[in-house]
Formats: sequence, structure tokens, C-alpha cells
Amino acid sequence: MKPATKLSIESEPDAGRDREFDFTDTDFEHIRALVYRHAGISLSNAKRNLVYSRLARRLRRLNLVSFTAYTDYLEGHLDTELTEFLNSITTNLTSFFRENHHFETLRNQVLPELMAGNSGRRIRIWSAGCSTGEEPYSIAMTVKETVPASSTCDVKILATDLDTNVLQKARDGVYDAERVQQIPPARLRHWMRRGSGANTGQVRVISELQDMIQFNQLNLMENWPMRGPFDVIFCRNVVIYFDKDTQRRLFERFADLMAPDAYLFVGHSETLYKVTDRFELQGQTVYRKKY
Ligand SMILES: C[S@@+](CC[C@H](N)C(=O)[O-])C[C@H]1O[C@@H](n2cnc3c(N)ncnc32)[C@H](O)[C@@H]1O
Repeated sequence: MKPATKLSIESEPDAGRDREFDFTDTDFEHIRALVYRHAGISLSNAKRNLVYSRLARRLRRLNLVSFTAYTDYLEGHLDTELTEFLNSITTNLTSFFRENHHFETLRNQVLPELMAGNSGRRIRIWSAGCSTGEEPYSIAMTVKETVPASSTCDVKILATDLDTNVLQKARDGVYDAERVQQIPPARLRHWMRRGSGANTGQVRVISELQDMIQFNQLNLMENWPMRGPFDVIFCRNVVIYFDKDTQRRLFERFADLMAPDAYLFVGHSETLYKVTDRFELQGQTVYRKKY
């Protein structure tokens, strides 16, 4: 199969010639509309080959011969196939302590502020779009390393994602050893256990971290069952796939669910500039709720 390229298929006369399944302009437009409607994700023309390769697996699994047959199937079986469809489309790239300066800000500024003079305080953190769990586990390690065991603060982390496959991986907390290579050895020894026998080459996060985190499937485009308020929200490398209107609505909803002065962390290429004025910039991709 051809690798995904940055060019749209319209500008590649030969693209698609060797394709296993028919994939027309109409199919792509149809899929693009469904992805936008159900996940808020805006797919550019450049994502056309990616969409083909991600969904071709579903067509094979369902023994379908064309993308038209697939979209027909999808619309007739939304209750079962929509989850598989969205799981195939989402991009789940993540890593432990990604954009480490956020975790340093959490450790040095946010948590000390939240703990100050507030014994018994509830501290609520939301990792929205948590993918396979590296982000909420990095938050949990930072919290455990910063909030003294003697503290009466009650810290809980909510970790949510649309994609049920990545969420299961997050809940399991088992990773290939190469995914944790960049974690310093002392920290690794403290918070993870190396597998042996059949589990050689894997690590598992310890239950003390898992116990702090509630993993829930949640589509950011739909209703949210939580009442908040959240003191910190991490929503990093998620809105990059949304258009500005969708981003605006999402950040409004975040602000409504956050405590006064709460912190919001976004991805390295994301900005609230010209999206919402309900937050003010505090540092590199770190915001604070204004009102
Ligand atoms: C690139 S990952 C980012 C993971 C992590 N936050 C990080 O920065 O490393 C984006 C995640 O957002 C999730 N996502 C995309 N659209 C979503 C939606 N409408 N509702 C909830 N999660 C969504 C995807 O499933 C994916 O796991």
C-alpha cells in the first residue's frame, strides 16, 4: 500500500491505481462529514490516504468491497460500528512526560498553590483526550512526588478519551519497556514494575497510581456527566484536530466547569488566541481561567 503523503489524492494522478478498495471523492466527503459530526475532527484533503489506510482494516474485517459499502454499513449499524470507525480515525500519539515543562509547572507552581492553606482540600485534575494513559500517569507521578503523604489534600484525576481501545490500554497500565526509556531510572523503579517470563520487555504502573485515576470514555462533543469544578485541565494535542468554532465551544465548556483561577494546559502547537478570552496566558501553552 502507498504510504500516506502530504499531497491530496487529486494532485496525484496515479494514487489509488493499486488500491485494494474503491475510494471515491464522494466516499471521502461522506466520511469527512461523519467524522466531523461525531467527533468534531476536521479532516483536510491531506488526510485522504490516511483515512483510506486506517479504514481499509475495517473493510477487510467486514468483508466489504468498497468504501461506499462501508459507509452504508456504518450508517445502518451506528450502534456497533461507530465506535470502531472513530477508534480507527483518531490519532493517539503520546508519551510519558511529553512537554515536560507542563509537569514542572504542575510541580513547582500549581500544586503548591492549590495546597497552600487548604488542608483537606479537594484537588481535581482532568486529562481530556488521555489516549493510552501516559499523560494521566505522568500527572499522577508528579502529584505523588509533590503532595506529601501526610497531606490531607484529596487529589483525584479524571482521564477520558473518545477511543475505547486506547482507554483500555490506559486502564491496563502496561507498556513496552522502550516507551519508558526516557523516564529517569529512580522514578521508573519507584512507579513501575518490570515484567518477567511472558511479560519480559514490558512494564506495569503500580496500583497506587492507578487508584488515583478514574478512566472514562467520553466524547468531548457530547454531554459531560461531571459537575466539576476542576482545578486543572490538561487538553493537549486534541483541539489541533478541531476547527475554530468547535475549539471555541469546547473552551467555553471547559471554563464553565473550572474553579476560579484554574489552570489549563494545551499542546505545544495550540493556542487560545482569537478563540476565547476566558483564559489568560501564564507561560508557554499554560493558561489560567479569567472568568
Ligand atoms: C494526539 S492524542 C493526545 C494525547 C495526550 N493528550 C498527549 O498530548 O500526549 C489525541 C487524543 O484525543 C482523542 N480525541 C479526539 N477527538 C476526541 C473527542 N471528540 N472526544 C474525546 N477525545 C478525543 C483521541 O482519541 C486521542 O487519543
